[in-house]
Amino acid sequence: MELIVLDTAEAIASRAADAIEALLASKPNAILGTATGSSPLPLYDELTRRYEAGRISFAQVEGFMLDEYVGLPEGHPERYATFMERNLRSRVDMRPGSLHGPDALSEDLQAACDAYEAAMAAAGYCDLQILGIGADGHIGFNEPGGPLDSTTHIDELTEQTRRDNARFFDGDIDAVPTRCITQGLGTIMKARKLVLIATGENKAEAVAHLVEGEIDPRWPATVMQNHPDALVLVDPAAASLLRQRH
Ligand code: GLP
Repeated sequence: MELIVLDTAEAIASRAADAIEALLASKPNAILGTATGSSPLPLYDELTRRYEAGRISFAQVEGFMLDEYVGLPEGHPERYATFMERNLRSRVDMRPGSLHGPDALSEDLQAACDAYEAAMAAAGYCDLQILGIGADGHIGFNEPGGPLDSTTHIDELTEQTRRDNARFFDGDIDAVPTRCITQGLGTIMKARKLVLIATGENKAEAVAHLVEGEIDPRWPATVMQNHPDALVLVDPAAASLLRQRH
């Protein structure tokens, strides 16, 4: 795992965009794993700028979202499908329909999980997976305590995650769904490259476990220590609880 501490969210976005630009230069039809939350937003801005400048094209890219809330209707602004459409797909030349997500509106959620895992397997899993991290150490929506080799599954959001995400729902925790579908930790680990972005003090404890802790299901992101090509990009606030200088 490579850790890089950079001063600003823009510098982090630029370093992450470099990794994606390099991938697309060597493989224009790459499979890209996308993340939601506030952490990747500067990256999506930077990717849009590079697309507008003619440096990169997503015309042949297929995307797979990490996760989706259960219980939000089609078109809800905080549905992750809507989020990704708004913040990336519609801003670049990704074809409509090329950014896939689990069908969290299905009557049969387990079947939706299985279908999503099968679609990712058929595509050969992601070449590069963008990740954020929850304050409780979740990646995707893999909350603490689950198996480290899970596939796409239904998960229950922790109180902490719902509190953290209430800011996207006018501060109303009751409006935050209680369940989600997420790629499993095993699914995420199948990506050839992982790029995790963490900014702000709220992430410092999770980052300390990720970088310096033991691999532990109570801090799900620590499974990344077993990945052969994982890049962790953090700002000084997110790095503030690391014991060693990096
Ligand atoms: C959300 C998403 C995660 C994201 C995390 C951090 O709940 N499901 O994929 O990484 O929480 O969000 P933020 O970047 O807004 O702190």
